[in-house]
Amino acid sequence: MGSLCLVLVVLLLSWTLSSSGPPPSSHLCLPHQRDALLHFKTTISVDCDHYGRYRDSYPRIDIESWKKSLDFCSWEGIKCDNITGHVIYIHLSHSCLLGSLFASNSLFQLHNLQWLDLSSNHFRGSLLENTSSLFHFHGLQRLNLAENLFNGTISSKLFSQLVSLTHLNLSGNAFSGLISHQISGLSSLVSLDLSFLYDLRFDGQGFDMLARNLTKLRNLPLNGVDMSDVALTSFLNLSSSLEHLSLSDCQLYGEFPTQVSQLPNLKVLNLRGNENFTGYLPNTNWSSGLELLDLSLCGFKGSIPASFGNLTQIISIHLQGNSLEGQIPDVFGNLKKLTSLSFSSNNLSGPLPITIFNLTKITHLDLSNNHLEGPLPNHVSGLQFLDELLLYNNSISGGVPSWLFTLPSLLLVDLGYNKLIGPIDRIQKPSSIQEVDLSYNNISDSIPYSIFYLVNLTELHLSSNNLSGPIPDSIFDLVHLTLLDLSSNNLSGVIKSDMLSKLTSLEFINVSSNSLLSLSTSGNDVEYSFPQLRTVIFYGCSVMQFPNFFQTSYLQVLDLSNNMISGGISKWEAVRWEGLLWLDLSHNFLTALDQLTVLDLSKNNLSGTIPDCLGNFRCLRLLDLQMNNFIGKIPVNG
Ligand SMILES: *[C@@H]1O[C@H](CO)[C@@H](O)[C@H](O)[C@H]1NC(C)=O
Ligand SMILES: *[C@@H]1O[C@H](CO)[C@@H](O)[C@H](O)[C@H]1NC(C)=O
Ligand SMILES: *[C@@H]1O[C@H](CO)[C@@H](O)[C@H](O)[C@H]1NC(C)=O
Ligand SMILES: *[C@@H]1O[C@H](CO)[C@@H](O)[C@H](O)[C@H]1NC(C)=O
Ligand SMILES: *[C@@H]1O[C@H](CO)[C@@H](O)[C@H](O)[C@H]1NC(C)=O
Ligand SMILES: *[C@@H]1O[C@H](CO)[C@@H](O)[C@H](O)[C@H]1NC(C)=O
Ligand SMILES: *[C@@H]1O[C@H](CO)[C@@H](O)[C@H](O)[C@H]1NC(C)=O
Ligand SMILES: *[C@@H]1O[C@H](CO)[C@@H](O)[C@H](O)[C@H]1NC(C)=O
Ligand SMILES: *[C@@H]1O[C@H](CO)[C@@H](O)[C@H](O)[C@H]1NC(C)=O
Ligand SMILES: *[C@@H]1O[C@H](CO)[C@@H](O)[C@H](O)[C@H]1NC(C)=O
Ligand SMILES: *[C@@H]1O[C@H](CO)[C@@H](O)[C@H](O)[C@H]1NC(C)=O
Ligand SMILES: *[C@@H]1O[C@H](CO)[C@@H](O)[C@H](O)[C@H]1NC(C)=O
Repeated sequence: MGSLCLVLVVLLLSWTLSSSGPPPSSHLCLPHQRDALLHFKTTISVDCDHYGRYRDSYPRIDIESWKKSLDFCSWEGIKCDNITGHVIYIHLSHSCLLGSLFASNSLFQLHNLQWLDLSSNHFRGSLLENTSSLFHFHGLQRLNLAENLFNGTISSKLFSQLVSLTHLNLSGNAFSGLISHQISGLSSLVSLDLSFLYDLRFDGQGFDMLARNLTKLRNLPLNGVDMSDVALTSFLNLSSSLEHLSLSDCQLYGEFPTQVSQLPNLKVLNLRGNENFTGYLPNTNWSSGLELLDLSLCGFKGSIPASFGNLTQIISIHLQGNSLEGQIPDVFGNLKKLTSLSFSSNNLSGPLPITIFNLTKITHLDLSNNHLEGPLPNHVSGLQFLDELLLYNNSISGGVPSWLFTLPSLLLVDLGYNKLIGPIDRIQKPSSIQEVDLSYNNISDSIPYSIFYLVNLTELHLSSNNLSGPIPDSIFDLVHLTLLDLSSNNLSGVIKSDMLSKLTSLEFINVSSNSLLSLSTSGNDVEYSFPQLRTVIFYGCSVMQFPNFFQTSYLQVLDLSNNMISGGISKWEAVRWEGLLWLDLSHNFLTALDQLTVLDLSKNNLSGTIPDCLGNFRCLRLLDLQMNNFIGKIPVNG
C-alpha cells in the first residue's frame, strides 16, 4: 500500500504541475478515511417516519448508498480534497438520521474536515462538552448542528480550538449554560446562530467580547438566549458588516441604542418580545437597505418616525404591542416592496395613513387596537394581494366601502368595534364590464355579483359598529364565507333563509343585537345544507318564527334568546340537537311545543341556570338534563 501511495503522490505532483485534465484518483491509499465513514454509518439509523410533513420537502442524502465497492469520495454528501484525498466535506442535513454521537465515534478521526453539516436530523449526545473529539477538527470552517437533539454545555474549547470557523449554527438544540467570553477567539466568524437553545446565557463580558472582536460578522441570530446581564452599550461595538441581527425573547433590559438601526449594511433587525427594552425609534439615518424590521412586543415609546418613508427596500414592519402614540405618518407611498405591516395594540391616533391603501404588494395589514379615526378611503388602487385587513377596535367612521368586497385575495376582514355607519355599500358591476349576456339561463332576479369578482373572503367581522339599513345581497354572494359576524349594529330588514343558502361553507354566524333585523323561514329551508355550521347566534333581533335553515347542521351553539319567536318547535326541527353545547331560547313567546315530546340534553357541558324557556315545554314527556353542570331550580311556568 505504501509504495502505491508513493506512486500516486508522484503522479499527483506531475498532474498539478502540468495541470490538465481531471486529477487521478488519489484516495485509494486512504482506506482508514473510508472505514471511518463506514463505521460512522453503522452507528446511525435512518427513519423518515419521524419527519411527518417535512419528509419530502428537502433533498435527502441516502446514506444507504455508501458502499465499500464505490469510491467514497463520490458518495452522496461527501467531498474529498482533490490533492490529498482526505474527506473535507460532510453534508447530511435533512436526511432522517438518528443516533448518538460519542467521543469515540469514528467520524472524529476525519481530522481534515472543513465542512460538517448534520443539521435537521435526530442526532443526540453532549457533543460540545470539554472532552469532545469534535475539537480535533482544527481546520473546520463550517459547523452546522442545527435542529437536532444535542445537549449539554458548550465548552470554551469550541472557541479556543476551532478558530478557523466562519459559520457556526447550533440553533434548535438543547445546549445550555453560559457562553464563555473566549467566543471572541472565533474572529473569522461570518455567521453565528445560537437561537432556540434550551437555556443558554450570555453574561456582560461574553457579549461585549463578541461585539468587539467578531468584526466580520454578518449574521447574528441569538433568539431566546438570556441576555439580561448584557449592557446595551456593547451593541455600539457590533461589526459594521452586520446584516442580520435577531435578538427576540432575549430578556434585554434598558434603552434602545439607536446606532444599531443605523448599521450601514443591516437588512434584518428583530428585537421582538423584549418587554423591558424601551426607548424611541430614531428619526433619521435608518439603514437604507433594511428589509425586515420586527420590534413588536417591546417597550418602545414616542411616535412612528416619518423617516420610515425612506425605507424603500422594506418588506415587513412589525411594531405591534408597544406604547407608540401620535399619528401614523402618511409616508408609505414609496415602499413598493412592503408585504406586511402591523402597528396594532399601540396608542396611535389620528387618521388612517391613506398611502398604505395604494401599496401593490401588501398582503397583511394590521392597525387594530389603537385610537385611529376618520373614514376608510373611497377608492383604492392597490391591495391586489391583500389577504388580511385588521382594523378592529379603533374609532374609524364613515361607511363600509364596496371596494372591500372586490379585493381578489382578501380572506379575512375585521372592522369590528369601530364607529362605522350607514348602509353597507352595494357592490357595483365593475366599469370595465360593458355588457353582460345572461340569456338562456334560469337566473331570475338579481345578478350575483360574484360573477364579476372572484373573491375568496372567508371571514367578515363587522360587529359593534353603527351600521344600519338592510344587509346587502352581495354579502350573501361571498360563497366562501366561514364566519359572518354582523352583531351589535342597527341593521334592519329581513334575512330570508334562501339568501343564506349560497353560504354553504358557513361555520359561524352571529347577527345578534340588531333589534330591527328579522329572519324569515321558507318552505325550502329543509333543502338547504350547511354541513360545517356549528354556531348560530341570533339573540336580540326580531325573529318571529323558529328558523330551521340549520336543520341538517350539527349545531354546537344555538342562541335565539330575546326575540319574538312564538309558536312551536317540532321534533323535526330539533332533530340534530344532540351535539349542542349551548342552547338559549329564553325571552321569547314560545308556547306550544306540540310535536316536541322528548328533549334530551343529557351528557353535555351545559352550565349555569336552566333557561326559563324550558319551563314552557309543557308537552314534554321526557326532559333529560342529567350529567350537565346546571345549578339552581327547574323553572316552572304555567
Ligand atoms: C476538485 O474537483 C472537483 C471535480 O473535479 C472540482 O469541481 C473542484 O473545483 C476541485 N476542487 C479544487 C479545490 O480543486
Ligand atoms: C470544562 O472545563 C472547565 C475548565 O477547563 C471547567 O471549569 C468546567 O467545569 C468543565 N465542564 C464540564 C462540564 O466538565
Ligand atoms: C441555522 O440553521 C437553521 C436550521 O437549518 C436555519 O433555519 C437557520 O437559518 C440557520 N442560521 C443561519 C444564520 O444561517
Ligand atoms: C442529554 O440527553 C440525554 C438523553 O438523550 C440525557 O440522558 C442526558 O442526561 C442529557 N445530558 C445533559 C447534560 O443534559
Ligand atoms: C481578537 O481577534 C484577533 C484576530 O482578529 C485575535 O488575534 C485575538 O486573539 C482576539 N482576541 C481575543 C480576546 O479573543
Ligand atoms: C467600542 O465602543 C466604544 C464606544 O463607542 C468605543 O469607545 C470603543 O473604541 C469601541 N471598541 C472597539 C474595539 O471598537
Ligand atoms: C421585565 O422586568 C420585570 C421587572 O424587573 C421582570 O419581572 C420581567 O421578568 C422582565 N421581563 C423580561 C421578558 O425580561
Ligand atoms: C445621520 O448621518 C449623518 C451623515 O452620516 C450624520 O452627519 C448625522 O449626525 C447622523 N444623525 C444622527 C442622529 O445620527
Ligand atoms: C429621506 O432621505 C432623503 C435623502 O436621502 C432626505 O433628504 C430626507 O430628509 C429623508 N426623509 C426623512 C423623512 O427622513
Ligand atoms: C394614550 O394616549 C393618550 C393621549 O393621546 C393618553 O392620554 C393615554 O394615557 C395613553 N395611553 C397609554 C396606555 O399610553
Ligand atoms: C394612489 O394611486 C393613484 C393612481 O394609481 C393616485 O392617483 C393617487 O393619488 C394615489 N393616492 C395616494 C394617497 O397616494
Ligand atoms: C381563490 O381560491 C382558489 C382556490 O382556493 C384559488 O385557486 C384562487 O387562486 C383564489 N383566488 C384568488 C384571487 O386568490
